Amino acid sequence: MRQKIVAGNWKMNKTLQETEELINALQSDYTTTNTEVIIAPAYVNLYRSQELLNSSKINVSAQNMHFETTGAFTGEISAEMLQSIGIDTVILGHSERRDVFLETDEIIAKKVRKALDQQMRVIFCFGEQLEERKSNTHFEVVSSQLKSVLSDLSETDWNNVVLAYEPVWAIGTGETASPEQAQEMHKHIRNEISVMSSEAVASQISILYGGSVKPANAVGLFSKEDIDGGLIGGASLKADDFLAIVDAAE
Ligand code: 13P
Repeated sequence: MRQKIVAGNWKMNKTLQETEELINALQSDYTTTNTEVIIAPAYVNLYRSQELLNSSKINVSAQNMHFETTGAFTGEISAEMLQSIGIDTVILGHSERRDVFLETDEIIAKKVRKALDQQMRVIFCFGEQLEERKSNTHFEVVSSQLKSVLSDLSETDWNNVVLAYEPVWAIGTGETASPEQAQEMHKHIRNEISVMSSEAVASQISILYGGSVKPANAVGLFSKEDIDGGLIGGASLKADDFLAIVDAAE
């Protein structure tokens, strides 16, 4: 059985006080299920979040990190720093990092390599732009994103990778890929992984869908064979909505 995962990417939202409030609300209403639940608060709130959730089943992830260990990289955070506060999961390759902060596949590949070398778990994001879907090149684009970052992974590395397909046209737009569109792409992704690694890895790896997932559409998406949960933006900022999405993954 593949692990179902629902992860909340809080992006640049929530002060320390708001972070504490949301974590408290999540903890008071959360009942343990087979689905792994992850939240990714802003850097400045990671330490406190980890402290609050230390003995909870809810895991904490970072939203980004740098590929170097130390040095003159103003504003950046290393894998070692994250691990020193007990964080062992990181989101890498998010489309906002690619589009707004101009991270290339090459930079993302270095970050993924560094995280995996540190035995951290990577939630690797990728997905096509609207024009690419319109011109019917979305499968090619996604294949190329996968290959340029994940082509030299060992079997052990693969055990620490979670994939998150996030079509850019569906992020924060209210427009979701239909369950059929998402399933078609997830099947393609699983097939590509089996070619790049092995059948065993492909059948075990969790592939999440992200892009305007809400309580109302989560069941339809998560009921598809190759969709193993979601990476949630806006709807992860409200405890009720996020926990309803967690329930939908069961
Ligand atoms: P939304 O759920 O707000 O569309 O964001 C998705 C996302 O980017 C998660 O990483």
